[in-house]
Amino acid sequence: MHVIELVQIEKHFQGQAVVHPLSLSIKEGEFLTLLGPSGCGKTTILRMIAGFEQPTKGQVWLAGQNVTEMPPNKRDLNLVFQHYALFPHMTVEDNIAFGLKMKKMPRQLIKERVDEAVAMTQLTPLRERFPHQLSGGQQQRVAIARAIANKPKVLLLDEPLGALDLQLRKNLKSELKHLQRTLGITFVYVTHDQEEAMMLSDRIVIMNHGRVEQIGTPREIYAKPQTLFAATFVGENNVFSSPEGLFAVRPEKLIPQRESGARKSGVIEDVQYLGSVHKLLVQLDDEPMKVTIALDISDDHPWEVGERVGVNWNTKDEVIIGP
Ligand SMILES: Nc1ncnc2c1ncn2[C@@H]1O[C@H](COP(=O)(O)OP(=O)(O)OP(=O)(O)O)[C@@H](O)[C@H]1O
Ligand SMILES: [Mg+2]
Repeated sequence: MHVIELVQIEKHFQGQAVVHPLSLSIKEGEFLTLLGPSGCGKTTILRMIAGFEQPTKGQVWLAGQNVTEMPPNKRDLNLVFQHYALFPHMTVEDNIAFGLKMKKMPRQLIKERVDEAVAMTQLTPLRERFPHQLSGGQQQRVAIARAIANKPKVLLLDEPLGALDLQLRKNLKSELKHLQRTLGITFVYVTHDQEEAMMLSDRIVIMNHGRVEQIGTPREIYAKPQTLFAATFVGENNVFSSPEGLFAVRPEKLIPQRESGARKSGVIEDVQYLGSVHKLLVQLDDEPMKVTIALDISDDHPWEVGERVGVNWNTKDEVIIGP
């Protein structure tokens, strides 16, 4: 059985469609990510699953039950908001316990749940502190601990790492994945960061302007993007047109050559060293387009800016992305 089933849900605001009809089934224990640029409807979809927003059309099913009309507090899920809010006058543990107290859970059980949640999010030494005595990352962990203390079947996370700096994001990313695996909770995760989506997810839903562009595993999405948007939004790509339509070739599949007879040719505009790989940016002859070639560093005759280069690839590495 699927934990979440969205059946042709759509959302209009003031007559304007912001989510076009969307059907999606999410498995128990799955880490599913909604990925797309700002304004594409990610938060709106989460809010419809949580019940804070009523779909204009369609149905939301949770664990085999139609919950479309059910208020948020009756649904067995928790939402960690894009802009999380802790109660400033409550300690970490009181913040985490708040929802459980509201549910009138026995005190002993609340204590157990809080102990477990602070341990999992590595907040045990900070449990007596107030939010203003915590860093942004620690506050975010409290928001996550508060959600997992409820032991929901489903956790909805709306850009939970959005407000954090790069290093904190990195640390929390691995923690989140680990947490999700250990708890076996179904995660529906929202981000506009493709790297985050690729690293965390079992499956990714790529959204653009309220529509699904593609649904697939990170591997499928990288290797077989189905639309121009999917091909260029996730990872770098080179898109070529042919009489049959568009196709894409990833930078690491392009082969630079000094001999003549390549499929394309051009001039190297830039050489970028990025640790284990380096990239050539090539301006093609007779075409406005530039291509990126990724090479490993073990190149005994390095390419130089201004040099002429032939650009080749194997036909098997062309990914057809439609007309
Ligand atoms: N209550 C509302 N009334 C009118 N329009 C709304 C409302 N809520 C959202 N929208 C519009 O719906 C569209 C989708 O918004 P949504 O918040 O779902 O986007 P998002 O993908 O979460 O973006 P971001 O990455 O910036 O958070 C936007 O164009 C937004 O302006
Ligand atoms: Mg949003």
